[in-house]
Amino acid sequence: MEPHDSDTGQPPPPPQLPPSQQQQHEEQQQPQQPLPQQKPPQPPQQQPQQQHARASSPSPTVATVEAPTIEVASQPGEEDEFDLTDDPFNDGSTSVTSSVYACTYERGRRYQCFKNGRYPIPNDDQEQDREDMKHAMLMELTDGTLFFSPVGDNPQSILDIGTGTAILTLATQVGDKYPSARVCGIDLTPIQPLWVPPNVEFLVDDCEQDWLVRNVDLVHFRFMAVILKDISIVMEHAYECLRPGGWIEFQELMGVPSCDDGTMPEDDPFVRLYATAGKAWAKLGLSTTIAARLEPYLRDAGFTNVHCKVLKVPIGVWAKDKTMRLIGLYQKRAVDEFISTFAGRPFEALGLDPTAVQIDLALARQSIDDISVHRYFPYYFWYAQKPASPADYGT
Ligand SMILES: C[S@@+](CC[C@H](N)C(=O)[O-])C[C@H]1O[C@@H](n2cnc3c(N)ncnc32)[C@H](O)[C@@H]1O
Repeated sequence: MEPHDSDTGQPPPPPQLPPSQQQQHEEQQQPQQPLPQQKPPQPPQQQPQQQHARASSPSPTVATVEAPTIEVASQPGEEDEFDLTDDPFNDGSTSVTSSVYACTYERGRRYQCFKNGRYPIPNDDQEQDREDMKHAMLMELTDGTLFFSPVGDNPQSILDIGTGTAILTLATQVGDKYPSARVCGIDLTPIQPLWVPPNVEFLVDDCEQDWLVRNVDLVHFRFMAVILKDISIVMEHAYECLRPGGWIEFQELMGVPSCDDGTMPEDDPFVRLYATAGKAWAKLGLSTTIAARLEPYLRDAGFTNVHCKVLKVPIGVWAKDKTMRLIGLYQKRAVDEFISTFAGRPFEALGLDPTAVQIDLALARQSIDDISVHRYFPYYFWYAQKPASPADYGT
């Protein structure tokens, strides 16, 4: 398997173009290196040449929603603005104990053993809490929208790939929302809750291997593109398992701290840290900037009707709007915890001096406390369709 990208940590800037220029912009976002060798997508028998032509031609249309600018607060919010009196995640449900499955411990963090080394991030309680917090953040950001794919009111089958904790995430909630659907969450690591709606089930599996499920209405990925080694093969699997007209969706953070108003210095320690992380991910055969560049992979797998929505997520409580400040608080806490995991497998892969790494981490943490610097992460929401009929090819 080839890595899908050799990330250098020098990613492209987030899109700031008007919609009329967006297609050109996205063409410029094509990977700098040729795409890895890809099996041709599997179209219906009668259309093989049409399929091939579509995969290699420039994108005909991408429905793009430009990211709205975040207004800056004129003064800081109250210190206790987001203090909690109750734990919002303590809903009394029981999680599967992973003690039945072997794990390894490194630097005080727990990592899964299934496909050991495959996933460079811990799977312990701390990481699971962080994932749930990110879910709460995204629900604020999207006003409770679990996915943007227009699957209608009665989807029959939904797959959530890399479902993670699933306790507050898509698989469980979609299970409640769409009683008609069988919802299956797939993950390398068995951290999903036991008590779920009857139409929800979980599988421990590697999504880069063959998928057995077929006739699915929606395949959903969130925070996954950045940890898939062979995204082309995963998209091919998704294409095969979808029914004609079914949807694929990716909700992804682009790992490049950005700023629109010049308040972020060039030598910003947080930016430097993420640049190093980009190199570490590349060393592991992964990419921190793949979120912005999914279109050619979607098209080469055979998907059409490609949509891309970009939203800016503030890092810290610098936004004027109160909801955006809450989102910024969640994002800051999420990265604050996440960057400590860089010191583990990712920066070990670069052979960095552990003491120097701890200093860089401390400087980066300190820098995101400063709300006079208006950093944000661009979030990309891609959704696209398996052609419903031969007439839909190439749209
Ligand atoms: C960043 S978490 C995202 C969790 C979830 N999608 C969410 O948004 O809350 C990534 C998850 O993907 C899982 N994962 C990583 N590589 C995988 C693979 N090849 N196949 C299946 N799951 C994988 C990890 O175990 C982890 O639970």
